[in-house]
Amino acid sequence: MAHRRWLVTGGLGFIGSSFVRLVLAERADLAITVLDALTYAGNPANLAEVAADPRYRFVKGDIADAKAVDAAVGDGVDAVVNFAAESHVDRSILDPEAFIRTDVMGTHVLLEAVRRHGIARFLQVSTDEVYGDVEQGASVEDDPIRPRSPYAASKAGGDLQVLAYFATFGTPILITRGSNTYGPYQYPEKLVPLFVTNLLEGETVPVYGDGGQIRDWLYVDDHARGIAHVLEHGTPGEVYNLGGGNSRTNLEITHELLRLTGRTWDESVRHVTDRPGHDRRYALDSAKARTLGWTPRVDFAAGLADTVAWYRAREDWWRPIKSGEFRDYYRRQYALR
Ligand code: NAD
Ligand code: DAU
Repeated sequence: MAHRRWLVTGGLGFIGSSFVRLVLAERADLAITVLDALTYAGNPANLAEVAADPRYRFVKGDIADAKAVDAAVGDGVDAVVNFAAESHVDRSILDPEAFIRTDVMGTHVLLEAVRRHGIARFLQVSTDEVYGDVEQGASVEDDPIRPRSPYAASKAGGDLQVLAYFATFGTPILITRGSNTYGPYQYPEKLVPLFVTNLLEGETVPVYGDGGQIRDWLYVDDHARGIAHVLEHGTPGEVYNLGGGNSRTNLEITHELLRLTGRTWDESVRHVTDRPGHDRRYALDSAKARTLGWTPRVDFAAGLADTVAWYRAREDWWRPIKSGEFRDYYRRQYALR
């Protein structure tokens, strides 16, 4: 059978690997090439279950490397989905340069290759963080973007280039802006997997500031399905918000994770110095994506319980990570807090 082929950049990360597992399982006529630089966040174990599938191909390469990107995009690809990014806000405060290189330059390099090869669709995976702090109400797609961290600014830089290629060259682009995502295979630097694995190890968890910050939580497979849905059904040139509809304070998340791991507040929680420039609240209006036919399926309480159960069962996945590069990062990030 002749297959359609999608190029998925950053497919060995958290959301990209969920996307690849799901689309291969749900679309028999589809083949996938993953282009991934294997940074600290890229992990071949995330795609172990599809590694032997003849429809799956892996290419190691950097999206900011024009030669590598040209070869991958020019290799019989119908669509490109860009998950590749430096994705952690705290690391962008410690070391912003890698964020500019991948999230801004890398996006530019991909757009040039997509234009040159006349690719039918390019989807940029973006974030609610580009809207900045939202005191009240919910962000809609044509709200002004006001990013406030180096990470969010680099993602916004990527988005603006993508939109400019549509306006200037008619490149058939789409953008999704997803909210805070949780689930299996998330690198344990982010709130949910850091707190779950620390609690399972009997360690404390560091709550930034008063813990009253609000995020909107989206299960990883719902996010991945939303991206696939927008790729196949969205209108070129448009942006689509993908929010989970589960607004919680960090304190609420912490309480729930303590309950699910059987730990107590007093033995486990430390309030530490806040993240500089910490956005207080994000909130997305996802009516546009819902009109297109996407809706999140996973109930938040069930998704969080399944996530904790997954980390409990998959120490073989996270223990090697926490004993490697992660240890230096953790010291740099938290020692002075
Ligand atoms: P992640 O950090 O888990 O994975 C990023 C992947 O990109 C890794 O496999 C890494 O090796 C790869 N990568 C990094 N730099 C690269 C480069 N220069 N060239 C090729 N590959 C490179 O990230 P994630 O959490 O899965 O996020 C995926 C995308 O979704 C990102 O664009 C992020 O901005 C966006 N997003 C994430 C969330 C979230 O809550 N995690 C929410 C909304 C949007
Ligand atoms: O909103 C979408 C974004 O969500 C994505 O674009 C990013 O890629 C992703 O990393 C995530 O960014 P956040 O900064 O919101 O995620 P993080 O898990 O780092 O933090 C979530 C909240 O928890 C935030 O308010 C900071 C707080 N926090 C985080 C850590 C790691 C703590 O209180 N303590 C911690 O140790």
